[in-house]
Amino acid sequence: MDKIILTGDRPTGRLHLGHFVGSLRRRVELQNSGEFDKIFIMIADAQALTDNWDNPQKVRDNIIEVALDYLSCGIDPAKSTIFIQSQIPQLCELSFYYLNLVTLSRLERNPTVKSEIAMRGFETSIPAGFLTYPVSQAADITAFKATVVPVGEDQKPMLEQTMEIVRKFNSVYGETLVEPSILLPSNSACLRLPGTDGKAKMSKSLGNCIYLSDSSEDVRKKVMSMFTDPDHLKVTDPGKIEGNTVFTYLDAFCDDSHFAKYLPEYPNLDALKDHYRAGGLGDVKVKKFLFAVLEEMLAPIRERRAMYERDIKGVYAILEKGSAAAREVAQRTLDDVRESMKINYFSDSQLIEEQDRRFKEKK
Ligand code: TRP
Repeated sequence: MDKIILTGDRPTGRLHLGHFVGSLRRRVELQNSGEFDKIFIMIADAQALTDNWDNPQKVRDNIIEVALDYLSCGIDPAKSTIFIQSQIPQLCELSFYYLNLVTLSRLERNPTVKSEIAMRGFETSIPAGFLTYPVSQAADITAFKATVVPVGEDQKPMLEQTMEIVRKFNSVYGETLVEPSILLPSNSACLRLPGTDGKAKMSKSLGNCIYLSDSSEDVRKKVMSMFTDPDHLKVTDPGKIEGNTVFTYLDAFCDDSHFAKYLPEYPNLDALKDHYRAGGLGDVKVKKFLFAVLEEMLAPIRERRAMYERDIKGVYAILEKGSAAAREVAQRTLDDVRESMKINYFSDSQLIEEQDRRFKEKK
């Protein structure tokens, strides 16, 4: 069986460091590992519309932002197919059939959907499209016969629901769809990167994100004002590592080579943490180190972004070509699904012959 990756993001804003450690960095590694037969990366505009139906301009404007973020991080259109969800109508048809295989109460129990409903104040009237987006996500994944879905931890319930749909489909209609497995970030600091204010999650609405497209000066300002240990007032005070955002980011981004380059007086992060805990190490020094680490990573991303920004038409051409390729693959799966579901009337010559005979015999 081919090893196939499918993953994607909603185009509701520029991508930030949380996206980067949560999945983007891994995707580029997987792409370059050469271990996969096919890689599909989807800009999930149709899903973004399930809670932004009244703001299509926002979704439209962010298609190019997300595409630029992908390309600047090293997603290579020669190796990965980048496409736009709404341009693949086959996904809607698959979703329609999968809807028969899930119950309303199962959808209401999906933990991610549940917390999103609470966050958006949808409790009293849940838009049906929003409640059922996990079903459309199952269509995204299965249409490409994905075996591996690299995503952040918050997507776990979506994958579980997809697996249920796959099993149900295959048990009712016969072995047709491929069961995917989820690939979570390996480093626990990367599972959910906190915002620069120490809040649990980076989110545009909280204004606590460092964006991949931020200028060097923006990144510096954000790092220098990051949440640390509120009780660490004087340099000589002992400091706390737990819940200290600067150290959480270092856990996610730095390795020993950064110490050799920027802080040679420490061999590694453990030594830096020990000094901070003991007292005598100021926040500013740690923040400057983090800034150096982030800049080393972000500078080449920024450079590549600038290159693609000079050729926006070329970026749209990549998306159009990717979408055409994705449509073909999704159509093949849809053909299989139609056959399994016995709704392939005109391509089933046997059916027509048999019925022709049966009706003639009746006379
Ligand atoms: N739900 C994902 C997110 O919010 C985006 C997405 C849509 C996706 N379809 C997908 C991710 C299929 C992985 C596979 O980021």
